[in-house]
Amino acid sequence: MKRLPVGLQSLIIQCTALLLAGLAVRLLPPDFPIASPLWQLALAQGALACVLSLSWRQPAWWPPLHAAFLPSVLFTLQWNAPAWLYLAAFLLLLLFFWSTARTRVPLYLSDRKAWHAVAAWLPEQQGFSFIDLGSGLGGVLFDLEKRFPQGRFVGTELAPAPWLISRVRAWLQGSRVRLMRRDYAALNLADFDVVFAFLSPAAMPALWQQAQAQMRKGGLFISLSFSVEEREPDHVVPLAEGERHTLYAWRM
Ligand SMILES: C[S@@+](CC[C@H](N)C(=O)[O-])C[C@H]1O[C@@H](n2cnc3c(N)ncnc32)[C@H](O)[C@@H]1O
Repeated sequence: MKRLPVGLQSLIIQCTALLLAGLAVRLLPPDFPIASPLWQLALAQGALACVLSLSWRQPAWWPPLHAAFLPSVLFTLQWNAPAWLYLAAFLLLLLFFWSTARTRVPLYLSDRKAWHAVAAWLPEQQGFSFIDLGSGLGGVLFDLEKRFPQGRFVGTELAPAPWLISRVRAWLQGSRVRLMRRDYAALNLADFDVVFAFLSPAAMPALWQQAQAQMRKGGLFISLSFSVEEREPDHVVPLAEGERHTLYAWRM
């Protein structure tokens, strides 16, 4: 059965949890330690939403988001925070999620397990060029650079804050990784032997077109978590349970 989009699942979870919490707080004894009925409702709703999210096997970051959502809304409404704080929080988020509304690719980070699996496909002896499209904080590149000193590693990132953090990390480590602040759609992928992407389902169709049109014959296109419909991958490596934790690779 096809899974509902995670946004719709989350809406259903939040509403169901609110209904159940509304019923549950009626059963609380009058001497319950949390006196405010609104806080009783918000905390019960958060706990129930978290459980529902876990049982729907949503990606790992959703259960804590569900748990915190309604309590945070209530906290923000009750706390008379100065207006500039909201502006500052908004600007901070903007710096991290710069063009997510357009690209539909938020920042989330790959882990060592994925980097290790990518490393298994890279040439041990000869030199090669590698690009991470949407390089985030640069984790993939810094890890692979250490394992493959003969490789040339490049990252490109649109959002200013992750890009700046990756530049500072490179500077602190004395890294040779080149980190650009550019849209990967404006690059020529023919300059690279290996192209790595950890983006989103929304980004894959256009990226696959770009890779097919530009990558050299024999080049390796690797995608973490997201496959393409046009061609079966040549290699599939499950990293953990669930299709979200799979590494796909195509020899062009
Ligand atoms: C899921 S994160 C992956 C971060 C990193 N590659 C990793 O594996 O940890 C995707 C990143 O791609 C960036 N991004 C999205 N669209 C982009 C584009 N068109 N050009 C450059 N970066 C982009 C986002 O800002 C985000 O930081």
